[in-house]
Amino acid sequence: MSTATDRKMIFEPSETRTIKLRNRIIRSATHEGLADEHGYPTDKLLKTYEVLARNEVGCIITGFAGIMQNGRSNSHNMLMIDNDSFIDSYRRITEKMHELHTPVILQIAHCGRQTRSKITGLPTVAPSALRDTSYNEDIPKELSEQEISEITDGFANATLRAKKAGFDGVQLHLAHGYLLAQFLSSYTNRRTDQWGGSTGNKFRIIAEIFRKAKHLAGDFPIWVKMNAHDGRKGGMTLTEAVEIAKMLEHAGCAAIEVSCGVFEDGLYTVRGEKIPVDAAFKYNFRYKSLPGIVHGIAKLTVPLFSKKIKPYDDYNVDHAAEIRKNVKIPVIVVGGIRSVDSIKAIIAEGKADYVSMCRPFIIEPNIARKFKEGSQAESKCIRCNYCAIGSEENALRCYNGKLK
Ligand SMILES: Cc1cc2nc3c(=O)[nH]c(=O)nc-3n(C[C@H](O)[C@H](O)[C@H](O)COP(=O)(O)O)c2cc1C
Repeated sequence: MSTATDRKMIFEPSETRTIKLRNRIIRSATHEGLADEHGYPTDKLLKTYEVLARNEVGCIITGFAGIMQNGRSNSHNMLMIDNDSFIDSYRRITEKMHELHTPVILQIAHCGRQTRSKITGLPTVAPSALRDTSYNEDIPKELSEQEISEITDGFANATLRAKKAGFDGVQLHLAHGYLLAQFLSSYTNRRTDQWGGSTGNKFRIIAEIFRKAKHLAGDFPIWVKMNAHDGRKGGMTLTEAVEIAKMLEHAGCAAIEVSCGVFEDGLYTVRGEKIPVDAAFKYNFRYKSLPGIVHGIAKLTVPLFSKKIKPYDDYNVDHAAEIRKNVKIPVIVVGGIRSVDSIKAIIAEGKADYVSMCRPFIIEPNIARKFKEGSQAESKCIRCNYCAIGSEENALRCYNGKLK
């Protein structure tokens, strides 16, 4: 149970540049699948955010919103922000959130090679022409100078649209193997021109986005979500992530959220004890068409041969702490945070300025309030991860380990 001192530390309002947060518990970006088929937010999405806000979440980061059509996700009904017609549709959300004293940040993203041309209707693009084995379909087209410039314009324009729509800031998605993470990681960026090679070159696309976005949107807050490491051979390491964090600060970033992993090893990012094999056979486009006998065999064998990715709790905290030592801007940590005691320790020990959670808010949208009131000390999420797999075909929901 949380004591009065814990509550003060976690639940007092705080300020980060121009954003006043209600408390130190943030809803991390969570794809809700509650856009319409064109990417406009629906009433159901507004309702979802309203429930979080009425239950005292400190701040909401939206599910990822696509900045270009070729960067759309394979997940069900992703939000979009790729032209000005989206501005008014998001204003309904920002107005309601402000009425409820809850800041709301729009996460903006381009999926790069982590999507399928069958979904986007366009060729898949990436820094280098390397196939993503989790989709195993397209060999992405290596982006040209001109196309990179269009992408940096796309992020800058999306930032301006977010400002006009009344968001409190944007968060650039530099994590989980999406396009900007593909540039930052030598695992996916094999370029030998000015966009690849050294850390400075790999970061160039991000620096360009900050430069263009600041030119268009002035001092509007730009946060990022980045990987501290991606678990890939030759990929992002903590040492390089620290360098990138310093570059982000220099570029004018307002806050850094620390995560890890790529789609090819999704359980590195979204950890759980069991591999969600049955959910994959029900909802994943690659596995669901396989014959029943394969499903049966896989259900028995996959758990035996899969490597367990541990720890399951607080798995980015030490990395966030290392990054925080090297920058002066606020650091947020996400990944397996599920109890008041953890949150208290992270904040009290100065490992991060804020914590963010995703799955605990799916099963209990009122978890922040329960933590504050002291009526519950730990999330009820069992980390079945069916929510993550199910989002390929369905709107977000908690399955609590049951597919029916
Ligand atoms: C259903 C689902 C949807 C997600 N959507 C996003 C997203 O849109 N953007 C993002 O940066 N991370 C996304 N994530 C990752 C989470 O934000 C978070 O980094 C990860 O789940 C670990 O945090 P947790 O242990 O609190 O769930 C998603 C995760 C899940 C389970």
